[in-house]
Amino acid sequence: MKQEDFHTVVCDSAFGRFCSKAADSDLGGISAADITLFVRQLEQAVFSSMIHTFQTQGVLTNREREYSLTKILSVFNTAPQHQCLIRRWLRLLTERDWLKFRGDNYYGAAAVSKVMLDQCWSAARKSWDGRLGSPLAMDYLISNVRRLPQLMSGEQQAALLLFPEGKMDYANALYRESITARYLNQATAEAVSRIVAAKKLTGAESEEQLHIVEIGAGTGATTAVVVPRLKAAVGALSIEYLFTDISNFFLLAARENFKDYPWMRFQIVDIDKNFVQQGLKAKCADIIIAAGILNNAADTDKTVEGLMHILAEGGWMLITEPTGEFPEMLISQAFMMSRPEDDRKNTKTTFMSVDQWLDVFRKAGAAEVLTLPDEAHPLTPLGQKFFAVRKK
Ligand SMILES: C[S@@+](CC[C@H](N)C(=O)[O-])C[C@H]1O[C@@H](n2cnc3c(N)ncnc32)[C@H](O)[C@@H]1O
Repeated sequence: MKQEDFHTVVCDSAFGRFCSKAADSDLGGISAADITLFVRQLEQAVFSSMIHTFQTQGVLTNREREYSLTKILSVFNTAPQHQCLIRRWLRLLTERDWLKFRGDNYYGAAAVSKVMLDQCWSAARKSWDGRLGSPLAMDYLISNVRRLPQLMSGEQQAALLLFPEGKMDYANALYRESITARYLNQATAEAVSRIVAAKKLTGAESEEQLHIVEIGAGTGATTAVVVPRLKAAVGALSIEYLFTDISNFFLLAARENFKDYPWMRFQIVDIDKNFVQQGLKAKCADIIIAAGILNNAADTDKTVEGLMHILAEGGWMLITEPTGEFPEMLISQAFMMSRPEDDRKNTKTTFMSVDQWLDVFRKAGAAEVLTLPDEAHPLTPLGQKFFAVRKK
């Protein structure tokens, strides 16, 4: 099957149209021009922050002089686990004409003063705050910018900037309140409701239990949109919702936050390990939800194959993921990620492209894939995608 056929099957279906309509319901009149302007301003702020950080440590200060990679890494005492990330910064800055590269050296950066940097972030903020999301999302990025030298050296843990004093305010701004989070969480909740409704139509409620597994459920941003709708949709159907994450910190909070849903269970699950050996049953899950987690997989192919194995025949995997390169992630959350062992190694990217994802799904035995939003959608420049993947 050609790749286009493979993923357009469900896009034109009623299921695809309902998911798309639900996702759009919370956009509040945002236009493609608003998004494109913001993306441009954010990139300007992020690339300026990278250059400014280098220059405050005395490298890339003289436009004509060449600076070796070794020199750049050494002035920050860059931790071994972050060297690859800083190489990615340099490659991206070169691709986007902020730097030039000759031999093994970088040069040609224009001076970026603190005043210029502040102006760039103010412009991005003006387009973002209150319209595309909470001001806290911008505060979070700026708090990372201020600590970039410490993040590079490993002296600052990136997770502590996302969850300062264990608080979830920044994470909520990113995973619940941003325009993309609202779009993706609505698409996921609608897909779950539609799948459950279809299951009820088959008369399955008398004999079967519906199994939903969420992996990397974290702060429960997607869960919080999915489970109230699910409660309304299940009717007489018996249901189990397994909320999982690698970290007990999130499971403790989720137990409290979702205590009104007696059909929810909570369990540690690591996506880099064999799912069956961690207690999940083969061919049992009707729906697997993976919201913004699969980019943490060491080997995406292996993890998606493992998830397919625990999915029942005809079951659905609902995945939300950043696709392409996100400069703002490279100065923040990428400091929490480890080096992948999948195709990202070849493309030298932090996140997979849509085509790479479709390839992963096809290899893992998917029958069809719905991808949202489509190319003409106002949110497309933000690069975040919802995939609904059905097992053969
Ligand atoms: C970007 S957050 C996902 C957002 C999440 N859906 C939410 O609402 O907060 C990534 C989550 O993946 C979890 N995680 C990271 N590595 C993991 C792994 N190897 N196995 C399972 N979960 C992992 C983190 O603990 C975190 O909760």
